[in-house]
Amino acid sequence: MKDKILGILKESKSYVSGQELADRLGVSRTAVWKAVTALKKEGYGIASVSRLGYKLEDTGDILNERELSFSDKFCFEDELSSTNEYAKRFAAEGKEEFFFVTCNRQTAGRGRLGRTWISPYGVNIYLSMIFYPDTDIPDIPQMTPVIGLAAAKTISDITGLEAKIKWPNDILINDKKISGILTEMQAEAERILFVVAGIGINVNQTEFDKEIAKKASSMRNETGRVFKRSEVIKLLVQNMETYYKKFIEGGFSPLRAEYKRLCINLDRDVRAFYRGGEIRGTAVDISEKGELVIKTENGLVSISGGEATVRNAGNEYI
Ligand code: BTN
Repeated sequence: MKDKILGILKESKSYVSGQELADRLGVSRTAVWKAVTALKKEGYGIASVSRLGYKLEDTGDILNERELSFSDKFCFEDELSSTNEYAKRFAAEGKEEFFFVTCNRQTAGRGRLGRTWISPYGVNIYLSMIFYPDTDIPDIPQMTPVIGLAAAKTISDITGLEAKIKWPNDILINDKKISGILTEMQAEAERILFVVAGIGINVNQTEFDKEIAKKASSMRNETGRVFKRSEVIKLLVQNMETYYKKFIEGGFSPLRAEYKRLCINLDRDVRAFYRGGEIRGTAVDISEKGELVIKTENGLVSISGGEATVRNAGNEYI
């Protein structure tokens, strides 16, 4: 009944009386009142004026199952340890491809290279999607920049600002990190069992801890606008499917030009951390396999994983 009331209020620009709602739904006015009270508790802004009835105001940003009903392939929980952990469990049970897991808060969000991903309640996106790629295990690192492209396109289209990529898949606006991606694979001998790509996007967060405030930001802080996470998720999951399908059909090559256009590392001094060592040089290319090609004192080196910090105009590595 709550869904139906919301549907009617969303359609109507003016007040809808309690009696009209009760008649249309075939329930009592008390039942309508109870449902509206419950919706208000969930965070929906519903104005109630005696004799006029109810009117939906701007609801701001709410993330719940109802707001995700554009899809039927997802699991939503208010709080999870880590969406990647849950997606991996679902994948191990054989959930369908493109099934995604999302929540309002993570209590043990994980970043790349063993870091923590701070995941405050109700402001950001924490989402993991399941894939069953029919490719060879050595090709899997190429999926990392592919998912980065999907995230960058989503953030650019929604904010209207150009989101750039720091190889392999950090998404930046104005040189500040807005989004990070953790791709994990489960394999058995020569066979890939599944891949889970987990994305964190700073959407409406306004405050950041001092140490990260210099390097991190959010869509809201960079635009001054509040975004509906469900709308960002809707576009994000579409883009992830689209880019992944292009990758499965043709590999990374057809996406390479687009990636190179967005990649901030190219032609800049980089410091890369790869397989326990540090490589310094100038990033000169992205290979057909999505590797970062670095010109060092000892020649060209291509890396397929790890990370590569970039020297900015202020001589700092970001
Ligand atoms: C990084 O830049 O270090 C990657 C961050 C990835 C964070 C996301 S949030 C959703 C998913 N669940 C996790 O525990 N991590 C990823």
